[in-house]
Amino acid sequence: MAGDVEENRRLLSAPELPECEGPKLKAFPYRDSRITWIEWINPIIDESTSGGEGYVFKVEINSRIYALKVFKFSNPSQYRIALGPMPKRPVTDAELGFHTDPFYAECRAYAQIETRRRIQGLKRKDIANCYGFMVLTREDEEVLAEYGIDLWCDIPLDDEYRIRAEGSPARALVKEYIEEDVEMDEKTRKHILATIKWMNRNKILINDIYPRNFKGGYLLDLGSSWTKPHCLWQNTSRQTLIAVLTADVVRFEEMVEEMGFGTGRSLRSRPALSEYI
Ligand SMILES: Nc1ncnc2c1ncn2[C@@H]1O[C@H](COP(=O)(O)OP(=O)(O)OP(=O)(O)O)[C@@H](O)[C@H]1O
Ligand SMILES: [Mg+2]
Repeated sequence: MAGDVEENRRLLSAPELPECEGPKLKAFPYRDSRITWIEWINPIIDESTSGGEGYVFKVEINSRIYALKVFKFSNPSQYRIALGPMPKRPVTDAELGFHTDPFYAECRAYAQIETRRRIQGLKRKDIANCYGFMVLTREDEEVLAEYGIDLWCDIPLDDEYRIRAEGSPARALVKEYIEEDVEMDEKTRKHILATIKWMNRNKILINDIYPRNFKGGYLLDLGSSWTKPHCLWQNTSRQTLIAVLTADVVRFEEMVEEMGFGTGRSLRSRPALSEYI
């Protein structure tokens, strides 16, 4: 139906997103410039790598190199069940989508990072930059099709949202391109752990700590993150929150342990719940 396509087109032409309470990311300043597609960074190799939220490319825009993450489409109401039978307040499909669709989740997390860094006058760089969002042109979408990419692949053909919204513009985030990876040594471990704790203190839960989401000592994937205010955060029981709020740090300690760089004291840095709420 044209309504949802038009609505998505309207949203994506906005100067900042998403249109809900909380942090908002600005559009990429050169969003109308031509993209030169250089290389697909995370091609689908097998089933284990095809479950992601998007496709990341090395691109050139106005003579500068960037990483461009193009997002798959997801049904905005897919997490409605997670709100529980009696949410604390009514949550619209639009708001649910803004909080849980990986594109909007990243917009909110990067906007929050930018705001909190500015307020705190942080000089040290510990998170790779995101320069804003943009939509792809029909020509760009044809390039993706040539790579065999279908941004609707996660939604069945007969899904109501797909029927209404297919044809919506493809969404992308323009990020700093991280060329080199680094070893997970003690220095990197401490650096990443401090970044995760800083994000948690600043109301961002990452929810996706896996080796493939790190490069060059940076966490690059915030598509599963919850940034406050967040409808799922608000509707999670206090009992469950205890696990949710400490999960990033605990999972990171487990991850470095599995990689052979752990301290063997994974509970040592488990943060107190009082740090978050
Ligand atoms: N800014 C960047 N610079 C360089 N490489 C990047 C950047 N962002 C992501 N990548 C690479 O692309 C891969 C996928 O990125 P990301 O995790 O954001 O997408 P995804 O849709 O979750 O895919 P996956 O399922 O592979 O994790 C990462 O493993 C990383 O190697
Ligand atoms: Mg990922």
